[in-house]
Amino acid sequence: MAAQFQLIRGDILHFLADPGEDTAATAYEYIADGGLLLQDGHVKLCGAWRDVAAAAPEGTHCEDYCGKLIVPGFVDTHIHYPQTDVIASPGRGLLDWLDRYTFPAERHFSDADWATEVAEFFCEELLRNGTTTALVFGTVHAQSVDAFFSVASKRGLRMVAGKVMMDRHCPDYLRDTPQSSYDDSKRLIERWHGTDRLGYAITPRFAITSSEAQLEAAGTLAREYPSLSVHSHVAENPDEVNWVQELFPWSRSYLDVYDHYGLLRPHAVYAHCIYLDGGDRQRMADSGATAAFSPTSNLFLGSGLFNLREALDAGVHVGIASDVGGGTSFSMLRTLAAAYQVSHLNAYVLPALRAFYLSTLSGAVALGLDEKIGNFLPGKEADFIVLDPQATPLIARRMASAASLEERLFLWLTLGDDRAVAATHVMGKAQWRRP
Ligand code: GUN
Ligand code: ZN
Repeated sequence: MAAQFQLIRGDILHFLADPGEDTAATAYEYIADGGLLLQDGHVKLCGAWRDVAAAAPEGTHCEDYCGKLIVPGFVDTHIHYPQTDVIASPGRGLLDWLDRYTFPAERHFSDADWATEVAEFFCEELLRNGTTTALVFGTVHAQSVDAFFSVASKRGLRMVAGKVMMDRHCPDYLRDTPQSSYDDSKRLIERWHGTDRLGYAITPRFAITSSEAQLEAAGTLAREYPSLSVHSHVAENPDEVNWVQELFPWSRSYLDVYDHYGLLRPHAVYAHCIYLDGGDRQRMADSGATAAFSPTSNLFLGSGLFNLREALDAGVHVGIASDVGGGTSFSMLRTLAAAYQVSHLNAYVLPALRAFYLSTLSGAVALGLDEKIGNFLPGKEADFIVLDPQATPLIARRMASAASLEERLFLWLTLGDDRAVAATHVMGKAQWRRP
């Protein structure tokens, strides 16, 4: 088949590295009136419009986003698709919220048709909000993951997901066993990992709901599949942290439990990481694991304030996460706004450029996908979104007085939500256009 070319025109921003505190100019490229030349859904060239247009074969179709900003699709490093119908359920803290709302909602995912319908809505909602890749919890039911991957595959999305492993301290109807969780996970890995754009994550829910035998099984899977992601929660809530200390009296800390079972490594992603000490942060940094900062969830569940500055200064890799349904929005812009505010309360003013890096390239690195997505270097898969400076009357009015790129990004981050996303492209094709 002949190669398919596409041209995309607009302002372009993407990251090559962490722009850090002083937003180092070598860490990102901003091209006013830029262009992307795509070949079969991959980036062939990114640069000034004139140069990119000149390199395109004659007659190449051009999508014109002049005046709008093209950035890589957001990467959400921690979200639960089965909690789509749990969002905005008021619990009295994490453990109460799990018992009264979340576990009962997850029960429905034994039904593959139910799971498929929710997965369809969930993927649509991600795309409406400009998220093109996510690290996704299923439920304990293997069929929940089959349903999710089937839906993601049909849409050609790059997604990473896994079956929850949980064998205690939860309702009977959500329990597996160490052996069944190992067998089910293994079957799902063999069926889905590396199929289309899909990847598998070994997913013990958290230390409270897994016996030592089950954490052993998770560690065995991790050893058998060394390139896979591991995905769990750690140190989110004081009551949870105390319970873990009672359940694992030999452990130095909550994080140490996962370390003991070989579950800390590159592409392992731990949601929350609020109650870590200096030793834990050092272990996170040394192991190459990622902390998934989930600020709307931490505020909604009253969990606490993640210290972004301390994590970054210690060399911990950080991703941004909605954590729906503990989180209150699918929008990474809303999530970044909360990240900014939470960080400010911890005496750190997060630059907007760094916020956009954390929600794009840094997320791709967290999942080991930075060779494929996360920026517009040649050969990357063309997952990108189009941000509209006229998204709402207030954003349009305020944009008129924004002098710099940093100020413009800060405006989208502070005032933006799904309305700011004019289009979401996956492998070059528009999968969402704001009506
Ligand atoms: N810890 C264990 N399970 C969950 C969950 O579903 N959501 C959150 N936010 N924390 C958890
Ligand atoms: Zn979560």
